Amino acid sequence: MTDENTTPAPAGEAKATDHRSRPHSQAFVDFITAQWAPRADLGVLPSAAVPFTAARRARLAEQFPGARLVIPAGPLKVRSNDTDYRFRPHSTFAHLTGLGTDQEPDAVLVLNPVEAGTGDGGGDFHAELYVRPLAARDTEEFYADSRYGEFWVGARPSLDDVTTFTGIEARHVDALRDALAKDVGAGVVLLVVSGADETVETLVEAIRAEAGEEAAEDGLTDEALVRAASELRLVKDDLEIEQLREAVDRTIEGFAEVVRALPRAVAHRRGERVIETTFDAHARLEGNAVGYETIAASGEHATTLHWISNDGEVREGDLVLLDAGVEIDSLYTADLTRTLPVTGSYSEVQRRVYQAVLDAADAAFAAARPGARFLDVHEAAMKVIAERLEEWGLLPAGVTAAVALTPEGQQHRRWMVHGTSHHLGLDVHDCAQARRELYQEGVLEPGMVFTIEPGLYFKADDLAVPEEYRGIGVRIEDDVLVTADGNENLSAALPRDPSAVEEWMRSLRG
Ligand code: GLY
Ligand code: MN
Repeated sequence: MTDENTTPAPAGEAKATDHRSRPHSQAFVDFITAQWAPRADLGVLPSAAVPFTAARRARLAEQFPGARLVIPAGPLKVRSNDTDYRFRPHSTFAHLTGLGTDQEPDAVLVLNPVEAGTGDGGGDFHAELYVRPLAARDTEEFYADSRYGEFWVGARPSLDDVTTFTGIEARHVDALRDALAKDVGAGVVLLVVSGADETVETLVEAIRAEAGEEAAEDGLTDEALVRAASELRLVKDDLEIEQLREAVDRTIEGFAEVVRALPRAVAHRRGERVIETTFDAHARLEGNAVGYETIAASGEHATTLHWISNDGEVREGDLVLLDAGVEIDSLYTADLTRTLPVTGSYSEVQRRVYQAVLDAADAAFAAARPGARFLDVHEAAMKVIAERLEEWGLLPAGVTAAVALTPEGQQHRRWMVHGTSHHLGLDVHDCAQARRELYQEGVLEPGMVFTIEPGLYFKADDLAVPEEYRGIGVRIEDDVLVTADGNENLSAALPRDPSAVEEWMRSLRG
């Protein structure tokens, strides 16, 4: 389906070079813009996120007094030619507005400095949300704009609907330029979250240049804004935790669907695609999408950390590694991995490797408590991995686990080159712009949510290990909430002990 016949041609004439352009007759325009019933009231109500997003905006704005903060949702992105990817707003925008799914291309959140005490919640900033609202039926956009028109993408919300739903004053995006430029160079510093929308960044640059604004002062930089917005998400609020629980629950259901589909996967020449599409269908049915490309890796493919081609066979006797997450409509995602025996039972050597990874994960869980460093969780897992490799005689001659664990050693990491944990939230790798001292070297606090995902990966052509290990890849990944006195495994309902996995698979396959 293209927009042939409907893209308006300039001055009522088709361009010779554009095969899609057709003139619109006045008769057509008169007829298509008339005889429409009044728009139905959509009955929009305030989102449950309203008080939470207001608190998040206040915590961000208070770090940049006197600055105007610009947070774009981002534009539609071309997939090919005149077709776009499904829209997903930038995560910073989603976090601060509560808008999710495909809302709202080209929108821009602005946190505007105002006189102290006169702003939102009695503070010193006022939030405004610049959006492209639904166009009237007598506009060309209504019938002829394949990117934004009601005929093409459906009715978008009105300004009033956006205001009601988000609790933020919505304004027309056409007013953005003047709103951003006001008093810049006369006391107001303009900062933009970079990486979300090039057009908005270019506009901000132009306004700064016109105002003769010099280099930013006192940490008032775009980079500092991006960092602060990322760090704001290190500790999740109650709504975020509720949404992460939901994402995890939907994901666990998807894993069960995959177990039920394993016989079909074995029967298909591209069995990994059966796994991928089974999980992804569940994600679309029960959530917004997958939170990242599903990894469905059977046999040796499991030793490729981000195997997303998923075009291989699934054979009896293989282990299949499924690393997948449902992103719910608010855009929070889970990130879980299980490594399952296709037959339903682990072989002796598969179980040995699996148990080592599970023991590493358990050690990481034991380390994940308030006051510990984020890095302690990784180090606890690494200690178990190195010791098990030493026990199996896989470390180089003369290298003990203790030697391997020194910064100068690290030989064990040949078989696990990735980290054990990453923060999780709106982005699968959440808080990625946070400072090292708050992330890797940061101290755990209640409300943090991250993965614990150790693994062991023995490639088929790895001459450093005995043949029985070659081609085995195992990862076990859970999503963990730091609590006041330890942690809670949010994905505890998905079996991880090898015997429990076998029992669970049996119960699903009947
Ligand atoms: N689950 C994919 C990753 O953490 O990289
Ligand atoms: Mn992960």
